This record gives sequence, structure tokens and C-alpha cells, in this order.
Amino acid sequence: MAEEPANPLRRPLSDGIVPESVVAYTEKRWIVIMVAMLAVMMAIVVVTAITGALHPPSNVEVVDSTTLHLQGEFVESNLGTAVEPDGSVTVRMIAEQYGFVPRCVRVPAGTPVKFRLASADVVHGFLLPDTNVNTMVVPGFVAEVRTNFAAPGEYPMPCHEFCGLGHQAMWSQVRVEPEERFTNLTPGERTRCVQQ
Ligand code: CUA
Repeated sequence: MAEEPANPLRRPLSDGIVPESVVAYTEKRWIVIMVAMLAVMMAIVVVTAITGALHPPSNVEVVDSTTLHLQGEFVESNLGTAVEPDGSVTVRMIAEQYGFVPRCVRVPAGTPVKFRLASADVVHGFLLPDTNVNTMVVPGFVAEVRTNFAAPGEYPMPCHEFCGLGHQAMWSQVRVEPEERFTNLTPGERTRCVQQ
């Protein structure tokens, strides 16, 4: 008759129980896989940040959300697309439950574009798919992002921060026009997207 091992933990395992050495090996293997995945994701973040100018906007500029519509840069008559003396373009918008004002803006292709946004109420998000434009719009601060659209096109502009019951319907649009066509638009037409 076989001798009983002194340590009860060293008894032979019953069927279906995986030995500790196998568990340890499997866990180590998964740790290596997880670390490799993290390294790949970090590399993607760093490479896209450097090559695609994808980074969190870092503009810190305060604004009084309660008086946006009454005075200063974000009064209604100053919203929309404006051409600067150096030829670049600045777009000013207000994000509020549940829409952007103006609802649609036009900008030229191949030109530096600076978006400046302020929120009138809660935190909203401003995202243009397939570009480096992606920022939160936090009440009390001006969100500023710069980009340059290589080609004309339509950019849907979803709010991507949950801002209330109407959040999923908070969509607007940026229309990128060929440069010469944009130049021929009146200032009013640059801030509307009504089909001509
Ligand atoms: Cu605004 Cu979600």
C-alpha cells in the first residue's frame, strides 16, 4: 500500500484539477500577451500623436458660459466661419443642449482652420471623423482645435459626450468646400449650408 504523503496539499490531484505549475505557466503567458497588447496600443497612440497631430487639446482659456450670447466673442452675430487677415479660417460655435450653433458651417479645403467652441450649459463633445478634431467642450472654457482639411467633403459632427436625453440627436455638420468656391461665398453663406 502506497505511503500517505506527509503534506495533505501534495496529495495526487483528483481528475479535472489543473496542477499549480500549469496554472502558473498559463497566467505568465497571459501576462506577457497583455503587456505586448499594451505596448502595441501605446505605440499606436504615440505614432498617431506624432504623425497625425492627434493629441488632447490643451487650450486653457476661460469664458463666462452664462453670458455667451450677450457679450464677447460668442455673441450670435460673431458665430460661424470668419476669414482671418492671414488667410486662415476661424470657426466659432456654441454647443448647447441639443445642438451646435450654427448647425452647419462651411470651411475651405487646404487652409488652416481653427475651431473655437464654448458650451452654454453642460459638457459636450466635438468630433470630426477621420480628422484630428476631437475635443470636449467644457462649460466655462473655450475649446480650441486646429486642423487642415486636405480635400472637400462632408463631415458629420456628432456630440460624443453624454449631455442629456437628447444627446444622441445632437448632430451637426462641417462642409469642406473647394478653396475657390469658398472664396466666392458671402459671409452669410459661409455660416449656412442651404443648397444653392
Ligand atoms: Cu451634447 Cu451629447
